[in-house]
Amino acid sequence: MNPSPFPTSSRRAFLKAAGTGAAVSALAGIKIPYVHAAEDNAIEIALVGCGGRGTGAAANALSVSGPPLKLVAMADVSPKKLEASLKNITNEHGAKVDVPAERQFIGFDGYKNAMDSLKPGGIVILTTPVAFRWVHYRQAIEKGVNVFMEKPVCTDGPTARRMLALDQLAKAKGMKVAVGLMCRHCKVRKELAERVHNGEIGDIVLLRAYRMQGPVASFRVKKKPENEPSELLYQIKNFHSFLWASGGAFSDFFIHNIDEACWMKNELPVSVRAAGGRHYREDWVDQNFDHYSCEYTFADGAKLFFEGRNMEGCDGEFATYVHGTNGMAIVSTAGHLPARSRIFRKQRVKSEEIRWAAAQPEPNPYQLEWDDFLAAIRADTPYNEVQRGVEISLVTAMGRMAAHTGQTITYEQALAWQPEFAPDVDKLTLDSPAPLRADADGKYPVPQPGITKKSEYDIPKPA
Ligand SMILES: NC(=O)c1ccc[n+]([C@@H]2O[C@H](COP(=O)([O-])OP(=O)(O)OC[C@H]3O[C@@H](n4cnc5c(N)ncnc54)[C@H](O)[C@@H]3O)[C@@H](O)[C@H]2O)c1
Repeated sequence: MNPSPFPTSSRRAFLKAAGTGAAVSALAGIKIPYVHAAEDNAIEIALVGCGGRGTGAAANALSVSGPPLKLVAMADVSPKKLEASLKNITNEHGAKVDVPAERQFIGFDGYKNAMDSLKPGGIVILTTPVAFRWVHYRQAIEKGVNVFMEKPVCTDGPTARRMLALDQLAKAKGMKVAVGLMCRHCKVRKELAERVHNGEIGDIVLLRAYRMQGPVASFRVKKKPENEPSELLYQIKNFHSFLWASGGAFSDFFIHNIDEACWMKNELPVSVRAAGGRHYREDWVDQNFDHYSCEYTFADGAKLFFEGRNMEGCDGEFATYVHGTNGMAIVSTAGHLPARSRIFRKQRVKSEEIRWAAAQPEPNPYQLEWDDFLAAIRADTPYNEVQRGVEISLVTAMGRMAAHTGQTITYEQALAWQPEFAPDVDKLTLDSPAPLRADADGKYPVPQPGITKKSEYDIPKPA
């Protein structure tokens, strides 16, 4: 995929971009600790971020057949989340779970203990909101453990550059690293991509993608209730509402459709312009717009139109289409599974014009991504999906940047973007103030396209 935006080739620059502490400069040649001996040769797994996806990813991991796997440590900032997750995973995979109280870690530092609990060759699953991805990835590199990290992997220019720099160190250590863009492991989308890349629908002139749904997950939030003791934990719990924590609903929800469109085109867009707004703000105080329209442009002039919406009472669609000079294709029809990918002879979705349709039923891509990852670990073949994860996270973020600032944003501008939503996220403790402050009315700063152009909102100075 082009462009391939590695910022610099000098090792010193990598290290500088990768982090601030001495820990990073000591990464190369680190001795991998052997902390507790296992009774068997199981690949050990630690889970950091024990919410919905973390619980699901751990279950997918433990479902892979072949040599033994064992969940040995868990970390979260919320004891309740950890407890619920452990219960769920134990119900499904009891014999493969060995997480006694001394390997359950609560707090912002728990990720270190969880990774320390792994014997060499283990895997850490990073499924917190994206804000913490680079912090946890840096530690995984220091420990030399294999990593599964969820999408998105960065939210802005500084975190994209940092992740790319860190990734050079991971590659040098031969770590296997998976990124949760699971649709890339979907067998029918893969077959479609091959057909499209082989020219079955001619030259691609247009791609369309839609994620139009209701206000799901923590898309919107009201003023922090008095009985919530911590502003920081309130924002983390409702991470889709806060740009620093998630990149907003845009980055968190829309990335998959933007990814599969770029995959079919087999390149990254060079620029984007976008519009968006908030119709019904009422007493919701989050930072999201409720609708976004993006026009991405590729180097050859082809376009990707992306429509994202989180509103009640409107048409819904969750699909991606590709139009070529000799027909069109549906990449995904209504969500992640089943994709029901098809190729049509003309530009219409008509059953009598189907040229190829994916075989049904389709295997679950959330399981396939783990099958592939573990196969690479067991065979010791190179496996690192981070660069693609960063590129797609950045292409997604650049659509959001364009909508929030009202400016056309190029890929290079997004990569060079200076404002960082949460630069000190690695220093947070349970008592820290939140990276984003509410005003006296409990409202958070929101994007103002055309007014705030150099950052996505007025970032208040620390107190
Ligand atoms: N690939 C997919 O289709 C898919 C689907 C859902 C979620 N995700 C991704 O997974 C990630 C988590 O989403 P989720 O839906 O599971 O959210 P969630 O709120 O259910 O889980 C996140 C968990 O992380 C914990 N956490 C937050 N900050 C932490 C920190 N610093 N240290 C330790 N624990 C911390 C939270 O307490 C919570 O238990 C997001 O990046 C999201 O985009 C991906």
